Amino acid sequence: MSQAKQSAISGSTSTRLISPARNVLGSLRLPGDKSISHRYAMLAGFAEGASHLSNFSSGADPHSTLACMEQLGARVEHKDDGRIAVTGCAGGFQEPKAALDCGNSGSTMRMLAGLLAAQPFASTLVGDESLTRRPMERIRAPLTAMGAHVTLTDGHAPVTIHGGPLRGVDYQTPIASAQVKTCLLFAGLQASGITQVHESVHTRDHGELALRAFGAHLARSKNSVGIQGGQHLHAIDATVPGDMSSAAFFLCAAALFPNANLVLDGVGMNPTRASLLDVLRMLGVQLNVLQLSEQHSELVGTLQVLGTPGGLVGAEISGALSAQLIDELPVLAAIAPYTQKGIRIRDAGELRVKESDRIALVAENLRAMGANVEEFEDGLDVPGGQPMHGAEIDAGGDHRIAMAFAVAALRANGDTQIHGAESAAISFPEFFDFLDRIAER
Ligand code: S3P
Repeated sequence: MSQAKQSAISGSTSTRLISPARNVLGSLRLPGDKSISHRYAMLAGFAEGASHLSNFSSGADPHSTLACMEQLGARVEHKDDGRIAVTGCAGGFQEPKAALDCGNSGSTMRMLAGLLAAQPFASTLVGDESLTRRPMERIRAPLTAMGAHVTLTDGHAPVTIHGGPLRGVDYQTPIASAQVKTCLLFAGLQASGITQVHESVHTRDHGELALRAFGAHLARSKNSVGIQGGQHLHAIDATVPGDMSSAAFFLCAAALFPNANLVLDGVGMNPTRASLLDVLRMLGVQLNVLQLSEQHSELVGTLQVLGTPGGLVGAEISGALSAQLIDELPVLAAIAPYTQKGIRIRDAGELRVKESDRIALVAENLRAMGANVEEFEDGLDVPGGQPMHGAEIDAGGDHRIAMAFAVAALRANGDTQIHGAESAAISFPEFFDFLDRIAER
């Protein structure tokens, strides 16, 4: 096990020193997508038969999901060739003997709740301090409408689910959330009748694609998706595409240099996850998609970034784009001072209820590096044309903050210390080693 992953699990903290770089060069193959790994792990644990998953995420979060699936009776084997074999419970989980520990993972807690809501036993989902602060009413309300009995403490975990027969619902999600949509589709799979989920923004559709891969039929129209209950899932063999949200850190690192040349192989290019590429092009980054293929309806491609010869321009990110880029906003904001016109982010209030309050923490750390930034309830204004200096960064236990500021540090004057660097292992234990490989000093 890597040192970073070990410390993320044991709770110890570590500091990483990031020196400025002269350029970004090289090629990388990224570990499997976190969102897809969670969904494949859950559905493989629920389906009938043995699924074989290659390039499964190395992040601690999807491994929390695998551990929960084992507690629910699935068999999980780590093969010598790196594949993970999951033998599922054919639709009937075992009653867990203890609380299901979701660690830092909101995806595990919210999506697994959907599978558990129809199971004929009570189960409790718990998480770490950060996860225990995150809102869970967003799943309690619709699951209750389907007939489940779900209790929370003040709107938060522990989440106790008294499962039982469910009925389909017609539900408009009040907040754009792929986790909530997936939770309801997982519950709807086991409900009587049809469950319809309508959303105002077409959020990432890995839940829909994964359900189809495991054999379910779904009906999709524009921003609505419906599933008929009572369908059975069968095991699959699948390769998880590389994680676009992890790729984002290196894409943004390469974007900081006029003559960068970075190739990323096997990156998941699902259109609901690829808006970052449009924003980078808008900022003036030269970017090519070299190859495209499809695996279980997920697009996979090779990306080449050839730097930003004219310098980064500036961007405005709001509306649906903010929801689709939600995990990439911290790194975009962290490099915004190096743009000419700055980056304005709005309609991103959800950032305040992620693993940390990402709006507050991005603003605090940008200021520590000497930048001016204005904070809004639902976003940030980061003016451009601001050189930054090395500083002490507090990652606040949040993996994406640790990685975002390691990228910003590449163009700063002087060294930067990232405190709480071990949190990167939540989604990307290899991050700092990979960054060292591509940063020319
Ligand atoms: C995820 C959806 C997003 C994202 C999270 C993973 C998913 O959360 O921030 O990292 O896998 O569905 P919300 O759906 O709550 O916005």
